[in-house]
Amino acid sequence: MTRKDAHILGVETSCDDTTAAVVSGGRHVRSSVATSQDELHEKFGGVVPEIACRAHIESILPVIDQALDQAEMTPDDLDAVAVSHTPGLIGALLIGLTAAKSLSWALDLPLVPVNHLDAHIYSVWLSGEKPDLPAVSLVVSGGHTSLYRTEGPLSHTLLGHTVDDAAGEAYDKVANILGLGYPGGPEIEKAARDGDPDAMDFPRTWLDEGSLDFSFSGLKTAVLYRCVGQNASKEDIENATFSDRFTADVSASFQEAVVDVLVGKAAAAADRHDARSLILGGGVAANGYLRDRLRNMAEEKRMQFHPAPLRFCTDNAAMVAGIGCRLLEQGRTADLALEASP
Ligand code: KG4
Ligand code: ZN
Repeated sequence: MTRKDAHILGVETSCDDTTAAVVSGGRHVRSSVATSQDELHEKFGGVVPEIACRAHIESILPVIDQALDQAEMTPDDLDAVAVSHTPGLIGALLIGLTAAKSLSWALDLPLVPVNHLDAHIYSVWLSGEKPDLPAVSLVVSGGHTSLYRTEGPLSHTLLGHTVDDAAGEAYDKVANILGLGYPGGPEIEKAARDGDPDAMDFPRTWLDEGSLDFSFSGLKTAVLYRCVGQNASKEDIENATFSDRFTADVSASFQEAVVDVLVGKAAAAADRHDARSLILGGGVAANGYLRDRLRNMAEEKRMQFHPAPLRFCTDNAAMVAGIGCRLLEQGRTADLALEASP
């Protein structure tokens, strides 16, 4: 066994999914197990950190057991344990990290620290694709909206990020205003299919000229005011009801504004960095409209387009185990003093 075909257990608990996976050779996904906490967070319209932590504690060991079972492996077959230790909710990260450290210590296995956002980008390599480089990578999730210049599967330079709400967070908040379910992204995408994207002229926030940072909080507020007015109380918002037509038009117009900005900034980054590929990852990368618009933009610029496979868009441990194998090859391991960082 060389380090290249190592069997890696991945552990990922940075937000509200408790996940574990076994990946061999950085690519062969033998198992990928996740327990969703969506039902626990639905009535709050977003992730409640304390609830997420408690649920992680209950699920983490059964999820790891299941990942080993599905991979038809025992702990003795493993070559290393990889774990997301940054960024994320601190309490949530700590639970996965503590489980991973304990396994590493008990089984005498190397511990491989993984950056959650690098892992989202790695989802593309996990599927066996080899993007032409340099690439521009767009990671859009519930916690992050970030653009990178990518020189390889382990080499990313941050070009811009959100200064307030992440794109997925904006989807979740708008869904909450409209009384749709959680997570809001898939609900808004569905509602938007019957709506008119030009029905409402919501703001596109570009920030300073040339900036590759993002801001979505103004858009969220504009949607709130359009739905319930400027002086609505929390109760008014909770009790508001809307027609299907209105919900569809708000969803389509909101989505158009988000996607215009994501595509516009990704295009500017690609031009500035002579990108040969465009990589897309993170939970919002599952959005079909965003994928279509980015694919068209990449085609116009004669760039390759590499969206993460749908099953590896939202948080998962396969991307963590996959990149963990590449990091292990380079000897990038940590000792038990490894800390979680939000
Ligand atoms: O990457 P992820 O699982 O967790 C974080 O690292 O945040 O992303 C979750 C986010 C949620 O905000 C969810 O609403 C959004 O991804 N999302 C979508 C879609 N599917 C998930 N947003 C837009 N369209 C979708 N189809
Ligand atoms: Zn994520």
